[in-house]
Amino acid sequence: MDTNQIRQKFLDFQKKRGHAVIAPAPLVLENDPTTLFTGSGMQPLLPYLLGEPHPEGTRLADSQPSMRLQDIEDVGDPRHTTVFEMLGNWSLGDYFKKEQIPAFFEFLTKDIGLDPEKIYVTCFIGNEKYGIPKDTEAAQIWQETFKKAGIDAKIAEIDTAENGDKRGIKPGERIFFYNDKENWWSRGGGIETTPIGDPCGPDSEVFYDFGEDKQDEERYGKAHPASDGARFMEIGNQVFMQYRRNEDGTFSELEKKNVDFGGGLERIAAAAINSFDVFKISLLWPIITHLEKISGKKYEVSTDEMRIIADHLRGAYLLTAQGLTPANKQQGYALRRLIRRAVLKALDLGISSDFLPEIVPIIAENYAELPDSILTHRRQVLSVLTREEQAFRKTLNRGIKELHRLKAKGLTGLEIFKLQDTYGFPMELSVEQAYREGIELSKDWRAEFDAALNEQRERSKTASKGMFKGGLEDHGEQTVKYHTATHLTLGALQKLISDDIVQKGSNITADRMRLDFNLDRKLTPDEIKAVENQVNAWIKEDLPVEFAEFDKNYARDNLNTHGQFWERYPDKIKVYTIGDFDAPASREVCGGPHVKSTKEIGHFKIVKEESSASGIRRIKAIVE
Ligand code: ALA
Repeated sequence: MDTNQIRQKFLDFQKKRGHAVIAPAPLVLENDPTTLFTGSGMQPLLPYLLGEPHPEGTRLADSQPSMRLQDIEDVGDPRHTTVFEMLGNWSLGDYFKKEQIPAFFEFLTKDIGLDPEKIYVTCFIGNEKYGIPKDTEAAQIWQETFKKAGIDAKIAEIDTAENGDKRGIKPGERIFFYNDKENWWSRGGGIETTPIGDPCGPDSEVFYDFGEDKQDEERYGKAHPASDGARFMEIGNQVFMQYRRNEDGTFSELEKKNVDFGGGLERIAAAAINSFDVFKISLLWPIITHLEKISGKKYEVSTDEMRIIADHLRGAYLLTAQGLTPANKQQGYALRRLIRRAVLKALDLGISSDFLPEIVPIIAENYAELPDSILTHRRQVLSVLTREEQAFRKTLNRGIKELHRLKAKGLTGLEIFKLQDTYGFPMELSVEQAYREGIELSKDWRAEFDAALNEQRERSKTASKGMFKGGLEDHGEQTVKYHTATHLTLGALQKLISDDIVQKGSNITADRMRLDFNLDRKLTPDEIKAVENQVNAWIKEDLPVEFAEFDKNYARDNLNTHGQFWERYPDKIKVYTIGDFDAPASREVCGGPHVKSTKEIGHFKIVKEESSASGIRRIKAIVE
């Protein structure tokens, strides 16, 4: 059964059950300060889940293209993709658990034809602290549902996933109770991190069993539904959205109880062909077979590379087909990153000339059934992506030139790191190129490279930056340049000198910037030069400067945001990020204003480094 058919079957099934099939929201969001992409089916429906009437009624369904860029590093395993479609159905204060559970089971076993014996489910164990009861009701409905299919489903209390890893499954067990880490749904994750004002509730997840031999026990422990191993895959989540979080952190019942069901189309399609590898489904497999053809390599051998390329190019296709173009900031930057990663992985496979002109039409064919109302710009995709591939290959060639400049004296790990950090020229390519051209590598290049990388990672993880303070003299062009330069200077100090450095004050006029920071010694002339060079390198890279609003705790705990006055900030804060969102040059709590991209700053020069008070140093700098 092909993936397009499964999408259609789901929508037809829900229509028969009285749902209005609604148009999905755009993947690329405009003017949403909290997120760049639609990440789930429920996201566009939030106001209706909180009680606002929906014009199409109380039963809705769709297939929502979704993007989770945060999963990008997991792509390469058998089941993660950055872009996916989420099949969804919703009851807005209409039906509840006893209709939802048997209906989804019917869809899976009758319409898709899954073997009921391969279906396992989970329910919420309850939470004493917040007075949320154990969801015995859902478990009971599941037991009856399985019974009708001739299965005696036994119930097990697992609680934490770690318990499950040790305990595994006993004969006959099919319904498992877990805590809020697994079976509570809110946009913020578990019960403690549910955002104030958001709808939320216990959920019941449905898993498909690919067989005992798929579990890597040594690595993941014994198999059970919430294990990270490959035996079980989640194919759907039914959220019983019956609570809302209050200002004081407690939970109240919603007046109208909702069902929010979401299931990954790709995963259901994989279960339908009994393949634990989602890349075997009809939306992805043709890309891979073509990669095998043009690279002469086998999927069984170059699995990760081929999965990454297939995922990223499909994502790039869907984003571009909705009108996005590659750029140096925000969504356009995410698109650029997908394309670049795909091109680099292709180099690993030995594909070193333009290949998007061949792959894009294959993806377009896969999506021929999605209407023009969703893929509004599909006719442009080929030319937009082809141009981007060509431009990136030029960038790569510049990196190779820089490598040649360093060629005569050989390469150290630190230089390889700098090529990657400053020119975006990846380590693997430097090494490969060095072998190819007989450039000498220092004996410990790998250790040197890892040390430089770890140092940078550690610093960005633990650094704590100061909030901009001390006021801008005005918002004139020069002053704004100095303001952004101040963020970069602090970022450079933290990266190169010490991750304990925080801002202790600053003063900015149209003629110069001044930054005070904690350090109990003078900077050496070499250190001053290094900080200056780092700031100029970032300026040269023309990094995007962007802001977004975040929940204070989220920004502090999840985004490594640097701020000096966490206790005093309001709940929602404005955060400025300079550079790659995942590995920024600087991220600070700040009111702005800033330049749009770092090139606008010009050339940066430190004119003085002096003592300002005990344990406080002061840097004065100009731009020219
Ligand atoms: N909103 C639920 C999810 O994203 C269905 O998993």
